[in-house]
Amino acid sequence: MKTSFPKDKIRIVLLEGVHDAGAEALTEAGFSVERHAGSPDAGTLRDLVSSAHVLGIRSKTQLTGELLASAPRLLTVGAFCIGTNQIDLDAASGLGVPVFNAPFANTRSVAELTIAEIVALYRRLTDRSSAAHSGKWLKSAAGSHEVRGRTLGLVGYGHIGSQVSVLGEAMGLKILFHDVASKLPLGNAEPARSLEDLLERSDIVSLHVPATESTANLIGARELAMMKPGAMLINNARGSVVDIPALASALKTGHLGGAALDVFPAEPASTDQPFESEVQGLPNVILTPHIGGSTQEAQRAIAQEVAEKVIRFIDHGVTTGSVNAPEVDLPDQARIAEQRADDLDGGGRPHRVLNFHRNEPGFLSALNEVVAKAGANVSGQYLRTRAELGYVVLDVDPTDTHDLADRIDAIPGSIRTRVLW
Ligand code: NAI
Repeated sequence: MKTSFPKDKIRIVLLEGVHDAGAEALTEAGFSVERHAGSPDAGTLRDLVSSAHVLGIRSKTQLTGELLASAPRLLTVGAFCIGTNQIDLDAASGLGVPVFNAPFANTRSVAELTIAEIVALYRRLTDRSSAAHSGKWLKSAAGSHEVRGRTLGLVGYGHIGSQVSVLGEAMGLKILFHDVASKLPLGNAEPARSLEDLLERSDIVSLHVPATESTANLIGARELAMMKPGAMLINNARGSVVDIPALASALKTGHLGGAALDVFPAEPASTDQPFESEVQGLPNVILTPHIGGSTQEAQRAIAQEVAEKVIRFIDHGVTTGSVNAPEVDLPDQARIAEQRADDLDGGGRPHRVLNFHRNEPGFLSALNEVVAKAGANVSGQYLRTRAELGYVVLDVDPTDTHDLADRIDAIPGSIRTRVLW
């Protein structure tokens, strides 16, 4: 399949009330954007998908393989969120449709919440606030402490853990961290010798690891028992990381001084469904409904980041940051034209031929043969592969573009070819 479009023919459909900043960035880049507030029903979604060139979704719209296969014009999907479980990524790869998301746009929001919770737990803020709301005046210093000088143990020192490290240190906390990968300590942070070492030495343990097999119930009865008496536990990572019955027990016996949990092993799928957990009703336990990354700033940052990635792919063929396609970063054609003004037979900037193909032996040699036979004047060639998908980009003299693109598209294994000019 070969496609080439002028910009105004590209149909961009944004669903689920993607933040205004996404539509603004796309409009500024010269595209017209159609917006829908919610996630449409199956029939409407099928209609929209069948004619869209770019689809922007958030977490509710399920893009199955079947649905993607019924979207012949779809060039890319923007997942205006963090996770991409709602999309059949293998099916998208098989169709040569790169998917872009914004994995770290809410990092700071989670880090700020964590800092707020550390102070709130040591001042027993939520208990005192609830008491004041119900008419009780608990004016007392009992059980209230400054956090300055305490040790904060970070389990997972990635994007969020390292941000908490910087913010925590600014408040006078001593930072220990444990990570399975070797990490550069920021500021005065120190790596712990092991998870056990961190648990034994920390006043607050804050979890910032992904949900994997190795982190399932990472903090259970044994680990909780290793924590200092009166220590606090914060989990703003994933619900699977903490054994909740064991935590409830450590809180009820008074071994732990408090906890803040934003994520749970079983979370309601929507705001209408009830939420139940064994830690409900316990003193000095802060429960939040998975809102660690949910701020207006994060929503805006997500919308801007994903829109930017979509624009770079549509305008230049750049796939950097794609979750399922080979990543190719490319100079823009206008810049190449400036640098190579004298070499271009047809004048102006080079045309760009973008091709997704099955990553099978022989494709590249077939491609080079096609280029040689066509006698095309190629000024740049970029290739990357990822699992079963290959992505090749050729910058060619404008006079050669269409014939060459047709020939490339006819190579066995070719999935989709697009031309930019
Ligand atoms: P990241 O990938 O940047 O960092 C995770 C770190 O954990 C990595 O450095 C990794 O090496 C380390 N790690 C993995 N397994 C480990 C183990 N067994 N022990 C110690 N370290 C281990 O991820 P990021 O962005 O910092 O996110 C951390 C967590 O926060 C993730 O689970 C993410 O899903 C969650 N999150 C929660 C949000 C919320 O709304 N509550 C919002 C955003 C992220």
